Amino acid sequence: MNTKGKILVTGGTGYIGSHTTVELINQGYEVLIIDNLSNSEAFIIDRIEQITGIRPKFYEFDLLDQSRLSSFFEENPDLKGIIHFAAAKAVGESVDIPLHYYRNNLVTMINLLEGMKQHKIENFVFSSSCTVYGQPDKLPVNEHAPIKPAESPYGYTKQVNENILKDTIGSGAAIKGIALRYFNPIGAHDSGLIGELPRGVPNNLMPFITQTAYGIREQLRVFGDDYNTPDGSCIRDYIHVVDLAKAHIVAIERLIQHNNKNNFEVFNIGTGNGFSVLEVIHSFEKTTGIKLNYKIVGRRAGDIEQIWADTTIGNQELGWKAERSIDEMSLSAWKWEQNYRNTKQ
Ligand code: UFG
Repeated sequence: MNTKGKILVTGGTGYIGSHTTVELINQGYEVLIIDNLSNSEAFIIDRIEQITGIRPKFYEFDLLDQSRLSSFFEENPDLKGIIHFAAAKAVGESVDIPLHYYRNNLVTMINLLEGMKQHKIENFVFSSSCTVYGQPDKLPVNEHAPIKPAESPYGYTKQVNENILKDTIGSGAAIKGIALRYFNPIGAHDSGLIGELPRGVPNNLMPFITQTAYGIREQLRVFGDDYNTPDGSCIRDYIHVVDLAKAHIVAIERLIQHNNKNNFEVFNIGTGNGFSVLEVIHSFEKTTGIKLNYKIVGRRAGDIEQIWADTTIGNQELGWKAERSIDEMSLSAWKWEQNYRNTKQ
């Protein structure tokens, strides 16, 4: 196969990982996926093949297994780069089982970086989060804003992993890294074949909306309308997952092509626009024509009032910009929900 080179995507059957895999294949890369399927489904590989016509090579194992990882690197000495998504990601759950989060998210990062040093793999893109900012003092928030004490063990693992990457690079390892701080990814691939697939009751807003619209959940709860925002509900910077996936291609290519300005860089990945919970609900209702059964309830513990990205640095440096509107996000999420339920395997 004549490709632009091999990229390892950890967590490649997950929500953002699968969309990024599709974009990488579309751009001519050969994708290798490592995933332990702890929070995703193997059929996503079939769907990626259905969309792109190419089946990524799938390795099912846990990145905590250092000897298996080492043999993976030996089998693939020609990796151009790694995009690391694999992680546990539920904020509330991380409060209940912190040790699992610390072991899973931190040790896998260490194992990957050790493997990269040993096998001389240079380019690394890390999946970070705007959660590292906490509630920013100034909005929109840019990359120079102070890192606030983490609200949860999950958020702390994102902060620590950024530091692990920065320190490893600072220690003289021949590794270059970019941490992408995502805002709130929602939406799904245009095909409706891949999308967000939460296990059990969704924690996040958009899957709860689509499941309520489909009739799986009786009622959507809006957590608080007494915040200091125009309509009283919390504000987030929602970004279409396909736009987010494309940012990863740009980031890994910046490293591969030696266009990075520092060996460790950080970029916000958002749209630069804030939408309230009620605005998201109204976008969904307007674009789909479905009335949502929702009610306002009390605030959810740990929620940040409002955050949206200053995207100036990311737009300039990466030459990337989010393009899709909130309505496209709603519509694609709804297409995926229906398609998934109607073709459930
Ligand atoms: N919300 C509701 N009802 C719901 C679910 C969510 O009103 O059923 C509200 C929340 O209170 C919040 C907004 O919708 O105001 C967005 O909530 P999400 O749970 O979708 O997203 P969060 O902003 O809480 O969390 C997301 C990611 C985390 C990440 C965090 C960074 O899920 O992984 O952003 O701020 F850490």
